[in-house]
Amino acid sequence: MTDRLRLDRALAGAAERLLTPFLIVDLGAVDHNARSMIARVGAQPDRWRPHVKTVKQSRVIAALLDTGVRNFKCATLDELVLILDVAAGKAALDAVDVLWAYPAHAASLDALTRRLDARSGRGSSNVSLLANDLSHLEWLEAHAPAGLGVMPDVDLGMGRTGRAPDHWFEAARVWPALERLRLVGLHGYDGHHRWDQRAAAHQSYAVLRELSDTLRAFAPAPLDVVTSGTHSFGHALEFDFGDSVRHQVSPGTIVLSDLRSAPAVAELGLRQAAFVASRVISTAPGRITLDAGSKAMSPDGPPPSCTVLGLEGLSPQTPSEEHLPVSVTPELAGRAPDFGAMLYLVPSHVCTTVNLHRRVVYVRDGAFVGIGDIEATGHPLTVGPEPAATATGVST
Ligand SMILES: Cc1ncc(COP(=O)(O)O)c(C=O)c1O
Repeated sequence: MTDRLRLDRALAGAAERLLTPFLIVDLGAVDHNARSMIARVGAQPDRWRPHVKTVKQSRVIAALLDTGVRNFKCATLDELVLILDVAAGKAALDAVDVLWAYPAHAASLDALTRRLDARSGRGSSNVSLLANDLSHLEWLEAHAPAGLGVMPDVDLGMGRTGRAPDHWFEAARVWPALERLRLVGLHGYDGHHRWDQRAAAHQSYAVLRELSDTLRAFAPAPLDVVTSGTHSFGHALEFDFGDSVRHQVSPGTIVLSDLRSAPAVAELGLRQAAFVASRVISTAPGRITLDAGSKAMSPDGPPPSCTVLGLEGLSPQTPSEEHLPVSVTPELAGRAPDFGAMLYLVPSHVCTTVNLHRRVVYVRDGAFVGIGDIEATGHPLTVGPEPAATATGVST
C-alpha cells in the first residue's frame, strides 16, 4: 500500500471533521525509523542520543523509550521537562539521561533549577549541561544545581557554539576541581559536515578522540563522546573512538524524516512519518493553491518547501503565510485535484514544520489513532511564576 493510500484509509472516517492544514504523524513509521537507527548502531540503543527538537511531543518520546532509547538531547527547557515527565510516566526515570544541548545563561539556569526543584529531586542527576568554554564551566560549577553532569562543547568547525579543541587542550592545564558538577562527556556536534565530507569529518573526530584521552583523567566515569546529526552520523559511526569512551550519535530528524535527509533515508531505509494535510482552496488553469502556507509548512530553505505525496505533475511554489501555490503540469491538465480535495505534503524540513503546530493527528498502519498535543512547541517564557504587571492600565 502506498503512503497516500494508507493516509486516505486512516482518515476516511475523520477527514470531514478535521480542518486543514494539520500535521499527521504515522506512529508505525516512527517505530520503524527508531528500530532502523538502533540496528544501525549495532543494536546498542545507548549509542544513539536523539535530539528531540524534531518531535517535541510526548507520544513520540514514549515511542522512543519503548524501542529502548534512554539517552536524549534537547534544546529547550520544555523539551527537557517533557522527556523527564514521559520517562517518569513509564517508570523509566532513573534510566533516562538528558543532555540540555544549549548554553545556559543566568536566567535559563535559574529556570532549569526551578524546574528541577519542582520535580523534588526526581531524576535530576541524569541531566547534563554544556560548558561553552572554561569560564562558563567555572560559572556553571558555582551556580548550577549540584549533581548535574557537564560536557565541554567542542567546536569542530561549525562556528556556532563552544570552543575549538585548542581551547579545551589548554584548559586541561587549569581544569577546575569539580565538586558540584560531574564531567560526563564531550559534545562535538558537527552540523556543518555533509554526507560527502567523510575525510573532513574523520579529521575532526580524530582531534575529539585525542581530547577525550586528555580530559578523561578529570572524569569520575567513562566519558560519553556525543557527535553528529542526520547529515553526518554515518561518518561518525565508521570512526573508532576507542574502548575507553562511549561514542553516541545524535540525529533527531530521522525519527520523522524529511526531504532534506535523503542520504540518511537511503542508508537507514527510513519511512516518512510526518505529513501536512492540506486542502485545495483555489483552482485556475495551470495552478492550484493549497492552504498550507509558511505558517503550516516551514519554508526555511529555497523553494520547494515540500512535495505532494503520491501525485506527479504538481510543483509547490513559493508560499505566502496562508497559501501555497502549486503549478500543474500541462500533462495533468483536467486531472488536477479539485477544489476542496485533501492532499498530503512531505516537508523539506520537518523539525521547523512540527514547531508550527500545536496539535497532531496520529495514524498507524492505515488506521486513525487519535489526536495529541505537541507539548514543547515554541519556547518557554518565564523563569518561574509570571512577573507581576507594573502598570494596571491607562489612567484617564
Ligand atoms: C546540538 C545538535 N545536536 C544534534 C542535532 C541533530 O539534529 P538533526 O537530526 O536535525 O541532524 C542538531 C541539529 O540541529 C543540533 O543542533
